[in-house]
Amino acid sequence: MKALVLAGGTGSRLRPITHTGAKQLVPVANKPVLFYGIEMLVDAGVTDIGVIVGDTADEIRAALGDGGGFGAKITYIPQDRPLGLAHAVLVARDYLAEDDFVMYLGDNFILGGIQDLIHNFRTERPDAGILLTRVENPSAYGVAELDARGHVVRLVEKPTNPASDLAVVGVYLFTPAVHEAVRAITPSARGELEISDALQWLVDQEFRVRSTMINSYWKDTGSVSEMLEANRAVLELLEPRVDGTVDAESQIIGRVRIEHGAVVSRSRIVGPAVIGAGARVTASYIGPSTSVGADCVIDASEIEFSIVLAGSTIEGVGRIEASLIGRDARVGRADHLSRTHRLVLGDHSEVQITP
Ligand code: G1P
Repeated sequence: MKALVLAGGTGSRLRPITHTGAKQLVPVANKPVLFYGIEMLVDAGVTDIGVIVGDTADEIRAALGDGGGFGAKITYIPQDRPLGLAHAVLVARDYLAEDDFVMYLGDNFILGGIQDLIHNFRTERPDAGILLTRVENPSAYGVAELDARGHVVRLVEKPTNPASDLAVVGVYLFTPAVHEAVRAITPSARGELEISDALQWLVDQEFRVRSTMINSYWKDTGSVSEMLEANRAVLELLEPRVDGTVDAESQIIGRVRIEHGAVVSRSRIVGPAVIGAGARVTASYIGPSTSVGADCVIDASEIEFSIVLAGSTIEGVGRIEASLIGRDARVGRADHLSRTHRLVLGDHSEVQITP
């Protein structure tokens, strides 16, 4: 069995972070979200991995390399434009050959692995397998309708009036039957070849499309709030560990990981939280569900339920919460100006200021 990992797309809901980086490389607990997926595939014994890349191909290649670091063999497959998930299957036709494969959306985040899922698929070998989970906002996803036996009868992409609350999770299992399906369908209203339509085509042609409910934690990390939420969930499982330096005036409470070369002084860190390699935290408070990236400087500040990417500086600011701060960003005080905010923001940035 092969894997097809989708790491293209524009990441419009994560701008401005995605103006300069791939959405699949935004870190969760200081590790790119995509790495969790690759590791999960390798853990399930799937090591022949095709990675679909778009505009951010160079960055994805730099991060994953030839896959050796993960115990995998990675083949890169360029997709000229993000024309849909089913289009990705079309462009990967030669790579996939006549093998069964698991398709994994690189911005999806699952805790708990997919070994059982792959095992069951191999044993029963339906024509396709999907994963479902109950959500509160089904209109944001592909939605499945099942019959009394639990077989898939209908799949609709982002329906206005969803027939169920069963969202399709971004992990799909396919036999080569899918190749005929992706050739048969036409673009949707949003101009994409939808994998939901390909699955519906299989259902209509009486291929067996089976569904499995997942009970483990799942998030599509396409938006800032979803990223923060995935970060929170992973940090809950963090092994507390101090590889850096913490001075006697600091307090470390709960699950906290201080990575190599990080220096914490006169600060209070309440886990779950991670402080990245080489970061400096001075006279600050780092609250629960926070990931501070490598080489960041946090000085005389308070930050909670946030992700700060590598190389950023936060100095002398009251309290930052529920924030995603990109690489090498600077957040500081405007001491020389009273009640004035000075901002240099990237395109599509979002700032909320307390008056
Ligand atoms: C895609 C699929 C959708 C699925 C979702 C899971 O949506 O089209 O059916 O529920 O991934 O993350 P997209 O991220 O392309 O909007």
